[in-house]
Amino acid sequence: MIERLKNWLVGYQKEETQKPGDEERMEVLKKGPMPRHVAMIMDGNGRWAQKRGLPRIAGHRAGMKTVRHITRVADDLGIEALTLYSFSTENWKRPKDEVNYLMGLPEEFLRTDLDELVRRNIRVGMVGREDELPDHTKRAIEGFKEGTKDNTGMILSFALNYGARSELIHATQRIIEDVQSGKMDKEGVSEALFDQYLYTANLPDPDLMIRTSGEVRISNFMLWQLAYSELWFTDELWPDFSRELFYQAIDDFQRRSRRYGAV
Ligand code: IPE
Ligand code: IPE
Ligand code: MG
Repeated sequence: MIERLKNWLVGYQKEETQKPGDEERMEVLKKGPMPRHVAMIMDGNGRWAQKRGLPRIAGHRAGMKTVRHITRVADDLGIEALTLYSFSTENWKRPKDEVNYLMGLPEEFLRTDLDELVRRNIRVGMVGREDELPDHTKRAIEGFKEGTKDNTGMILSFALNYGARSELIHATQRIIEDVQSGKMDKEGVSEALFDQYLYTANLPDPDLMIRTSGEVRISNFMLWQLAYSELWFTDELWPDFSRELFYQAIDDFQRRSRRYGAV
């Protein structure tokens, strides 16, 4: 009985986001090379709200719904890792109310979405400086990590209080510590080792990076990891980013020729 109810719920949620033709579209995409790791700069929430005469936080609320939908699409496509840039180290410069609102979203998302994430076998993690977050935000992140730690499917990472420059400095400091304490020698510092000191140590480099809202910049996101990522930009604002656009991004990705400097 419970099993049937669960299946019905999963089916219901699928119907909510998938339209006729989506299965077929995904089958075609799945035949091509699928990015293992997709990273997204979720931008344009504020402008989405402003266009409607709403406060910026209404845009963040709408953006959270997109997070839910896009996570489902990524999972349905069989992507191994999805990383969502949610709050940068520079976003502390925003008005206090907006920052507080954003810091409350993980708790809300935990309440509303943990069950589905567990059902989907998704493991949730965070990249960024956790120690500087407010306690209630840290608790929500820990709740996600704890609640999904046994899951073996897609890794969903929230880049929260994330800044690539700060990440690189942090990694460098830890490497210096390990060299000074004799744990390793200077010659041991390779690209592969450096990777292990980043917040993304458990993740492959993003194959595809998507940014919404028409801005064509990186905004301090994964400067090291994006070295050979394919970049894809859309003018659509994050709350309007759709399943269809995600398919388009994957389709474009599959048409690109990744050469890594070779011919
Ligand atoms: C969301 O979009 C990104 C976050 C920092 C949460 P913005 O809040 O930057 O929206 P715009 O760019 O001002 O429209
Ligand atoms: C990048 O967006 C950070 C996030 C999406 C979390 P911003 O809106 O902060 O970037 P800029 O200020 O336009 O470069
Ligand atoms: Mg922005």
